[in-house]
Amino acid sequence: MDLRGVVRILSLLLVPLLLASARGLSKASQRTFKIDYSHNRFLKDGRPFRYISGSIHYFRVPRFYWKDRLLKMKMAGLNAIQSYVPWNFHEPQPGQYQFSGEHDVEYFIKLAHELGLLVILRPGPYICAEWDMGGLPAWLLLKESIILRSSDPDYLAAVDKWLGVLLPKMKPLLYQNGGPIITVQVENEYGSYFSCDYDHLRFLQKLFHYHLGNDVLLFTTDGAHEMFLKCGALQGLYATVDFGPGANITAAFEIQRKSEPRGPLVNSEFYTGWLDHWGQPHSTAKTEVVASALHEILSRGANVNLYMFIGGTNFAYWNGANMPYQAQPTSYDYDAPLSEAGDLTEKYFALRDVIRKYFGFVLYRTTLPQDCSDPTPLSSPLSGVHDRAYVAVDGVPQGVLERSDVITLNITGKAGATLDLLVENMGRVNYGRYINDFKGLISNLTLGSNILTDWMIFPLDTDNAVRKHLGGWDGYNNGRHDKPLDHSSSNYKLPAFYMGNFSIPSGIPDLPQDTFIQFPGWTKGQVWINGFNLGRYWPARGPQMTLFVPRHILVTSAPNTIMVLELEHAPCGDNGPELCAVEFVDRPVINATLTSGHSPPHLPDQQSGMDYV
Ligand SMILES: *[C@@H]1O[C@H](CO)[C@@H](O)[C@H](O)[C@H]1NC(C)=O
Ligand SMILES: *[C@@H]1O[C@H](CO)[C@@H](O)[C@H](O)[C@H]1NC(C)=O
Ligand SMILES: *[C@@H]1O[C@H](CO)[C@@H](O)[C@H](O)[C@H]1NC(C)=O
Ligand SMILES: *[C@@H]1O[C@H](CO)[C@@H](O)[C@H](O)[C@H]1NC(C)=O
Ligand SMILES: *[C@@H]1O[C@H](CO)[C@@H](O)[C@H](O)[C@H]1NC(C)=O
Repeated sequence: MDLRGVVRILSLLLVPLLLASARGLSKASQRTFKIDYSHNRFLKDGRPFRYISGSIHYFRVPRFYWKDRLLKMKMAGLNAIQSYVPWNFHEPQPGQYQFSGEHDVEYFIKLAHELGLLVILRPGPYICAEWDMGGLPAWLLLKESIILRSSDPDYLAAVDKWLGVLLPKMKPLLYQNGGPIITVQVENEYGSYFSCDYDHLRFLQKLFHYHLGNDVLLFTTDGAHEMFLKCGALQGLYATVDFGPGANITAAFEIQRKSEPRGPLVNSEFYTGWLDHWGQPHSTAKTEVVASALHEILSRGANVNLYMFIGGTNFAYWNGANMPYQAQPTSYDYDAPLSEAGDLTEKYFALRDVIRKYFGFVLYRTTLPQDCSDPTPLSSPLSGVHDRAYVAVDGVPQGVLERSDVITLNITGKAGATLDLLVENMGRVNYGRYINDFKGLISNLTLGSNILTDWMIFPLDTDNAVRKHLGGWDGYNNGRHDKPLDHSSSNYKLPAFYMGNFSIPSGIPDLPQDTFIQFPGWTKGQVWINGFNLGRYWPARGPQMTLFVPRHILVTSAPNTIMVLELEHAPCGDNGPELCAVEFVDRPVINATLTSGHSPPHLPDQQSGMDYV
């Protein structure tokens, strides 16, 4: 082997890695993760943020599979993971610490970071978790009279020593220090423990701040009942709740609001399944019930952690037990979306589909508070439209607001008319919110000199709408959430779906092939073929003129369906339904010049007639 060749390759690989890490370091100082109390949300680097997280316990998954499981979680659409840290797993004997191999929690967290997942850390010291003694080391019982989870000096001394080892390892992994950890939980469901010892919680709070700094965001989690938050919540620790799909979601979040009148709504444990006991039937939770409850939580703009996203295994002797005495089995499958063995389940796909709805388009709707018979400026003075908004009054298009580009638009309409802003997220997560809140619209909008309020917010599930209507042409406009896409038949300037089909001859060995689709005369939008979302097109801006169409989504056995969501202007003429066309070409054009009037190369393989839907 030619060693020089190997060395050359290695040094090529090393250069970008070094640059990347240097860049990472220089950016660290700008990283912040905070609560925005005035808008009931988190702020990440100053921008509104919501997490959709899943629980995975590194201590229940072989290290060999950590990356695989984390990737599958990422592919489900999660942007964060949550894990406990079991004290007894890391300090099996007093002063003997295990942090390597299967115990390498730092490596696990770094792996999540590498895969672009944020981390919610729950280091206890008590964790429950259906884990032996709730994560507390059994050697604490050498002092028989010890009162666990209280201000008992012997308990606190052991806690102080343990957290003095663990937390300094976690400090560099905090978000503000360049790592992925956004929030850290103190204790666990303390409100359901009998001791109700606030000094104990205060001690932990101080200790966490001492080791992690004052800017760390600490929180508590308790069952969604007033009595639990009474002993579980403490000023300075952000109080969150946990509840499963059977709960009354409104009532559960009202409980959180009793402790935290302002701030983000958070369900820290949304149960995807349930735990088991030896001798009892395996617990399950119906996919449809879990999916619809998750949808409801997300549609309120709440943050959520799915407990568990993958349960894993209680290897060795690590299972816990409940009282009256019922021991838990070895499997901690939990009927979670990823099975104990990491397989994708029906629940995985169903939850992924729910999560997927919270990307993409969001409709903001309110009514005009005043007559605007003269053109009245609708403004986002602080450039708060993220990232483009298609504006209509009573279904009549008014124009487009664009982040940092077009911040004022004149509109006309009568007082009481419906004002719709279809806000498109151009590449960052954007979420629905409660009435009167402004997530997605980053700052207040004004109409003349008035601030607009009382927004209703609807996430638009375009992918699902497309899939649903693949079967037939009729009834699209009777759909649930296509209101903003409604339009008078003479008007083509509102966002609208267009649908068509094309056949590929069967029996020709080389067909179908990969191809590229282009949009002559179209402006900007999204395109699906056979329900597969190919992505955005924006030939009016360029430089990309064609989108890649991989052959595996095309069929020869039946007509292929194509659906286009044009957001601004389709090339169909303004005088009623007509055919408009898209073209398939055999070469990509992603480098068009940006001058207006660019006409893309014309190399059609096939033409597809498009009917206005
Ligand atoms: C859920 O809770 C809310 C608020 O407490 C209550 O108004 C509503 O009736 C409850 N819904 C059901 C179905 O119990
Ligand atoms: C809005 O209308 C007013 C009055 O007709 C006009 O002066 C102003 O330039 C318009 N603004 C925009 C952004 O079109
Ligand atoms: C937005 O407007 C509301 C009142 O309508 C006000 O309470 C709030 O402070 C405003 N927010 C900002 C950031 O100006
Ligand atoms: C395909 O589109 C044509 C119009 O272009 C329409 O008449 C026909 O019904 C469509 N076929 C299917 C299977 O949707
Ligand atoms: C775009 O790339 C193609 C293929 O590389 C090249 O032939 C063409 O001249 C380029 N067009 C522009 C406008 O740069």
